[in-house]
Amino acid sequence: MENKTVQKGTATLTVNSKTVELPVLGGTDGPDVIDVKRLYAETGMFTLDPGFTSTGSCESQITFINGEEGILLHRGYPIDQLAENSNFLELVYLLNYGELPSKSEFHDFSRDVTEHTMLHTQMDRFFGGFRRDSHPMAMMVGAVGALSAFYPDAMDVKDEDQRRISTNGLIAKMPTIAARIYKYSIGQPFIEPQNHLSYAENFLRMCFSVPAEDYKPNPAIIRAMDRLLILQADHEQNASTSTVRLAASSGAHPYAAIASGVASLWGPSHGGANEACLNMLREIGSVERIPEFIARAKDKSDPFRLMGFGHRVYKNYDPRAKVMQATVHELMQELDIKNSPILQVAMELERIALEDPYFIEKKLYPNVDFYSGIAMDAIGFPTEMFTVLFALGRTAGWLAQMNEMTVDKTQRIGRPRQIYTGAPFRDYTSLDTRS
Ligand code: ACO
Repeated sequence: MENKTVQKGTATLTVNSKTVELPVLGGTDGPDVIDVKRLYAETGMFTLDPGFTSTGSCESQITFINGEEGILLHRGYPIDQLAENSNFLELVYLLNYGELPSKSEFHDFSRDVTEHTMLHTQMDRFFGGFRRDSHPMAMMVGAVGALSAFYPDAMDVKDEDQRRISTNGLIAKMPTIAARIYKYSIGQPFIEPQNHLSYAENFLRMCFSVPAEDYKPNPAIIRAMDRLLILQADHEQNASTSTVRLAASSGAHPYAAIASGVASLWGPSHGGANEACLNMLREIGSVERIPEFIARAKDKSDPFRLMGFGHRVYKNYDPRAKVMQATVHELMQELDIKNSPILQVAMELERIALEDPYFIEKKLYPNVDFYSGIAMDAIGFPTEMFTVLFALGRTAGWLAQMNEMTVDKTQRIGRPRQIYTGAPFRDYTSLDTRS
């Protein structure tokens, strides 16, 4: 990657009567940053920033978010335009290779992905080792990590060809893995991929076809599935993406690094929120009970939070939530689902929360997970599969970010420091002298 930051000035820091000048760097858009790389060498001190609220970890040219204004761009293109006009595979290409593909580039890329969707047959036996009632994300962490045992020849991330093989191969195999996890959890036989179908339709078919009957989805379902993948494809340096970058910074196998992203995504504060959100909407159950849950969300002595609300970066409406909301309405209309109680609760909850001083003051708006669970539910997935679907989309971003880091000459193994507050030096005492 060609580094493009420009020095815009310096920041002066005086500490212990020593003054250091730190470069202030600017990018294409977004806040300038103070480059503290030399701080330790010059002052013997680190910065402390748990949760990375004020810390950038890298330069990136993939995704830009303006959280105050609710803007999300991939390689400069706004998410709503991509969701409306593009498709997931094209977005994968854009994220990973930097530009929208030409017709022939898209043709070749789609063929490369389509022709690598099958899994090694030994992989199928691997699934049989899990309990049928395992959480799908537990199986996904294991299965994606196991890919490195089945495809060890795409290990050298410094080699451009091997990077392409592991990138396109993982995009190809993730839907097959996700569908197998679903089939295994419901005790149905695995369905093999079909090359003539689109990415989204092939995945849906592997999930919902049975040998006795082929699945022919409504086009609205295919569109909604593709849009879900697009909306979840990348979101710059979030927890799972940072996890992937950190894991890969040691030179780990790309499939192992992506498995670490799957693990990080699982948590309810991150990708697990869509599952938690739909469970919450079901628990609320009716519009009459909303005030009770709003009160709980505001009560500091109650750990309950309104799932699908709030975001570390967005202090405005998450632009993905807007697209997702429109997609849900379209889906409900096409599937002729009238008076969905969950959708009614969601819309009323959103209305009430957006008028509530607590949510206004803290700038808590719906995030992408608020509506994505409703869409996945309408498509036919059980809640436990929601985060797996999220991982399917986010794999595009994880790979793009990992590959970008690999060719960024300024990147080294990720190694944060700490402030130590444990016991000071002390001598070991033998067990028989301890009371
Ligand atoms: N419901 C009620 N109060 C909330 C919520 C919520 N959903 N989110 C934040 N707050 C309050 C906090 O209690 C805190 O209040 P305080 O300042 O009085 O202590 C304040 O808003 C700031 O919250 P933090 O937790 O400090 O914000 P942070 O940026 O660390 O967390 C997060 C962001 C994790 C997304 C949070 O808003 C949350 O837990 N939301 C619910 C889970 C969720 O929807 N996650 C999906 C995130 S999007 C994604 O991963 C795709």
